[in-house]
Amino acid sequence: MIDTHAHLTDADFDADRAEVIERAKEAGVEKIICILCEFNEKNLAIFKELLSRDFIFGAAAIHPHDAKDFENRKSEFLKTLGFPKVVAVGEIGLDYHYMYSPKEIQVKVFEEQLLIAKEKNLPVVIHSREAPADTLDIIKKQKPRRGVMHCFSGDEKEAKEYLGLGFYISFAGPLTFRNAAKPKEVIKMIPDNRLLLETDCPWLAPQAFRGKRNEPAYIKSTYEEAARLRNTTVEKLSDTVTTNTKELFNI
Ligand code: NI
Repeated sequence: MIDTHAHLTDADFDADRAEVIERAKEAGVEKIICILCEFNEKNLAIFKELLSRDFIFGAAAIHPHDAKDFENRKSEFLKTLGFPKVVAVGEIGLDYHYMYSPKEIQVKVFEEQLLIAKEKNLPVVIHSREAPADTLDIIKKQKPRRGVMHCFSGDEKEAKEYLGLGFYISFAGPLTFRNAAKPKEVIKMIPDNRLLLETDCPWLAPQAFRGKRNEPAYIKSTYEEAARLRNTTVEKLSDTVTTNTKELFNI
């Protein structure tokens, strides 16, 4: 199994990060993509340490929440993209739910980071919350070379649009929630060669751990639910996600 989206630098893991990684390995997690969105000294040191492990890869970007601080953080962000084993720009996108940064600034920063990814020939990890039309418009306009819709919560129509643009679709813990009718349907129509799974930890723990801090080891229940919905086995699904992760992130 691979966890394609984990925020392992988050302070929620400060007390037991080494154990969290050990538990992930014991649970059968073979690779983790660690997403860095805050570029302070502490996080950068943790990120570098994580990347020194052969099964951990990285992605870095300014999150839409922090779009208003883009100019201040840009040089650290660009420097981080140059670290060995940083394989993607993400997460980037639009978040009209919290609106920590004004819409126009989120749009501008999203477009700029898409451009940076293109210049560096890196795939993009897209965050889109309550902004389906604008996210799609910008992606259609900027045409990133490769990318994934992370923690996908859209409907079948939206999924088809992104599949048509060559995107991968990734599902997280909410797939396992008892009341999650939409992702449980949408995941059935994603072709094998476009499917990814993730935790988005420390948030969005699967149903069995709901309310707790999430961690990569818990991804097993998301694989189990995805396998059940797609009428396959966890083993076959793991092979599929592994192949897709290698394709998308070139690892
Ligand atoms: Ni995330």
